[in-house]
Amino acid sequence: MKTVQLPDGERVPALGQGTWRMGENANARADEVAALRLGIDLGMTLIDTAEMYGEGGAEKVVADAIEGQRDRVFVVTKVYPHNSSRTELPKACERSLKRLRIDAIDLYLLHWRGNTPIAETVETFEQLRSAGKIRRWGVSNFDLEDMKELLATRNGAACAANQVVYNLQHRQIEFDLLPLVTGHSPLVPSLMAYSPVGHGRGLLDNATLKKIAKRHDATPAQIALAWVLRQPGVIAIPKASNKAHVRENAQSLEIQLTEQDFADIDRVFPPPQSKQSLPML
Ligand SMILES: NC(=O)c1ccc[n+]([C@@H]2O[C@H](COP(=O)([O-])OP(=O)(O)OC[C@H]3O[C@@H](n4cnc5c(N)ncnc54)[C@H](OP(=O)(O)O)[C@@H]3O)[C@@H](O)[C@H]2O)c1
Repeated sequence: MKTVQLPDGERVPALGQGTWRMGENANARADEVAALRLGIDLGMTLIDTAEMYGEGGAEKVVADAIEGQRDRVFVVTKVYPHNSSRTELPKACERSLKRLRIDAIDLYLLHWRGNTPIAETVETFEQLRSAGKIRRWGVSNFDLEDMKELLATRNGAACAANQVVYNLQHRQIEFDLLPLVTGHSPLVPSLMAYSPVGHGRGLLDNATLKKIAKRHDATPAQIALAWVLRQPGVIAIPKASNKAHVRENAQSLEIQLTEQDFADIDRVFPPPQSKQSLPML
């Protein structure tokens, strides 16, 4: 499995698993757990969740999936902005730990920026880290200006990752956030690409993507993932509740896109030529 090195030296798989929309429906739970377990067996041992997903339900699905194999898995979860103050963050962390049935969160992210000053959230993350409740922390949906402010904050440089939208239809980070990471500085937080196959919103029906997939005897989702994974320092976290999708996604690592593929992609999904603000799904 291709890996990405976090700023503290920890290596994590470049291809992980998302969980948004899991834990919302009791009838789907067994399939969701089975899909995540299959993904772990196939090497996608980084699992991304959030207290928001299914209002805690997704964290409980993750708990079932990692039962008996916690040490093989790198658990990422996220706190709501309204829970990111010095009083609320430790409580939210305890609730997530309880639902996940683990002693420490491997990576704890601020889901998006809210009203709590970033310095207060960072200070509290650092306290949770000292207490052994979390191993490292990061942010999500932070655009370049937010990252600059964070990195200038006391202990802000300890940020391990920024989780942002990145797929063929959303290439905004290529203009400024991505060059920071691919510049190979070990001090820059890694990027986690969310919605890498387009959140099931039609990307996979694109004719060009289908044409490229045919050339590789692959599926559009595999091409979309291979395209995200071409970037060093980027972690992709597709969500799949369907086992066939999980298998496909794992195989995307084997696909080598060609110059022709990249040219075709750039024609239909052009890279940004100027600063565009970072969208949030
Ligand atoms: N930080 C944030 O603000 C934020 C925002 C969005 C997402 N995220 C994280 O990123 C993860 C991924 O993003 P996402 O869930 O929005 O979108 P996504 O992973 O791009 O798309 C998920 C959808 O694609 C389908 N899918 C997955 N693999 C497929 C394949 N090989 N072929 C066909 N369809 C496939 C899934 O179907 P099935 O489930 O039926 O298999 C699901 O409907 C989330 O689950 C979450 O953990 C974070």
